[in-house]
Amino acid sequence: SGGTFVPAVVIGTGYGAAVSALRLGEAGVPTLMLEMGQLWNQPGPDGNIFSGMLKPDKRSSWFKTRTEAPLGSFLWLDLANRDIDPYAGVLDRVNFDQMSVYVGRGVGGGSLVNGGMAVTPRRSYFEEVLPQVDAAEMYAKYFPRANSTLRVNNIDKGWFEQTDWYKFARVSREQASNAGLSTTFVPNVYDWDYMRREADGTVPKSALAAEVIYGNNHGKVSLDKSYLAAALGTGKVTIETLHQVKTIRQQKDGTYLLTVEQKDADGKLLATKEISCRHLFLGAGSLGSTELLLRARETGTLPNLSSEIGGGWGPNGNIMTARANHMWNPTGTKQSSIPALGIDDWDNKDAPVFAEIAPMPAGLETWVSLYLAITKNPERGTFVYNAAKDRADLRWTREQNAPAVAAAKSLFDRINKANTTIYRYDLFGKQLKAFADDFCYHPLGGCVLGKATDNYGRVAGYKNLYVTDGSLIPGSIGVNPFVTITALAERNVERVIKEDVAKS
Ligand code: FDA
Repeated sequence: SGGTFVPAVVIGTGYGAAVSALRLGEAGVPTLMLEMGQLWNQPGPDGNIFSGMLKPDKRSSWFKTRTEAPLGSFLWLDLANRDIDPYAGVLDRVNFDQMSVYVGRGVGGGSLVNGGMAVTPRRSYFEEVLPQVDAAEMYAKYFPRANSTLRVNNIDKGWFEQTDWYKFARVSREQASNAGLSTTFVPNVYDWDYMRREADGTVPKSALAAEVIYGNNHGKVSLDKSYLAAALGTGKVTIETLHQVKTIRQQKDGTYLLTVEQKDADGKLLATKEISCRHLFLGAGSLGSTELLLRARETGTLPNLSSEIGGGWGPNGNIMTARANHMWNPTGTKQSSIPALGIDDWDNKDAPVFAEIAPMPAGLETWVSLYLAITKNPERGTFVYNAAKDRADLRWTREQNAPAVAAAKSLFDRINKANTTIYRYDLFGKQLKAFADDFCYHPLGGCVLGKATDNYGRVAGYKNLYVTDGSLIPGSIGVNPFVTITALAERNVERVIKEDVAKS
């Protein structure tokens, strides 16, 4: 058997990975985390760690020659994007045939680029999606554990009501209310007290300087500041960055052998390493973990993997849309990049929607109200291994998003009608388009719990091999997903450490 041996390897450093590493470290298990992205803690030439959204540079994107922002146009002009040098930047857009998926790259995974919205799903929907998981235990133990370790906090409602920075959200709330819809405050891992000090001018601005999808220089408690800091604090966990796992095989003694490519931040191959371990945890995200297992199954390095690997994928019903407000109803030149409110119409049986009221922090008045709608779309996609390209392709068609568009349209038609407003057609590319149905932020599934794995993420067909991340969730969870991914990982790893790791 080849390579360096470590008892446990965790692939990735996102939510599922970070939970697993912390709990393994606490259990005294020497654990190596392998992350293909960078550690984001060094300031660049401009003194900032991350480049902002308004002037993105190479740090913004994962090996692109031009940035690929979700709001690609304004009045059909591509004003937001910039030409850049290919580099190991923090946000990736993985473009499949009919669906693009945004993911974070770096120590902390999606936590580096996401909106920080920390939402515990409605219990009835959690039970519908994952009926085999004991919901009573989840809501009594693992959701609270996830929320506190992630340091989820709530906005001060008095401040929300009077600050210029959330005028856009108050405008949208009133318009929703005119249509008989109610809104709810959304908890976050962004430190709301820090944001108030940003508004007061006493600390450097981040959320109030349009920072989010290319990283927050301040204010956000991303995983490197919560779970991963605690994991490193156990003294048992090590993180190797710019290390991408390529192949996984099982050796005769049951241990796993990984081939890993180490690159520099410009993409130059520095070394190909072999690393072996007894317990292997996949936390490379819905796309990453599924691709690794598909490749292993299809190239015969893990031939006993189930045919369920690759199935049950969905974009959590993500649809973005925008409305044009009347001239007398501006949304404000000041907009916090961190959403604070959601329109909650999930109990509407015909078209359940949870729509976050998103900012459009352009620094000038746009009269735009922007939304990310999470809908309940029963359609599912499948990953298949493309041998020629050695990658996973996603079988998902644009028509499969029609139910999600219909649900979002039903909600926003009501809001438009009640406020005599219309959609914006200029924001999602060069064509006339009111609904962005071709990208998502919430990839879920590919190695579904209880199908590709047992009820605790143990991969079917192999011992000591686990999936820990968003690929366990079958395509939909009804709210922003990272709290659920975290809580489920807490539940699963507790069982695995007790039954598999401690006894070996
Ligand atoms: P995650 O994707 O976080 O981590 C996987 C890690 O593995 C990455 O760091 C990746 O680089 C690494 N990796 C992949 N393949 C590898 C390989 N072969 N070798 C080594 N490393 C590898 N959710 C939410 O709840 N609230 C929100 O507000 C938002 N907002 C939001 C905005 C944007 C712009 C995005 C892109 C996403 C969100 N999300 C969100 C979604 C949320 O970020 C996402 O669901 C989680 O990050 C998924 O967590 P995972 O643990 O599944 O993987």
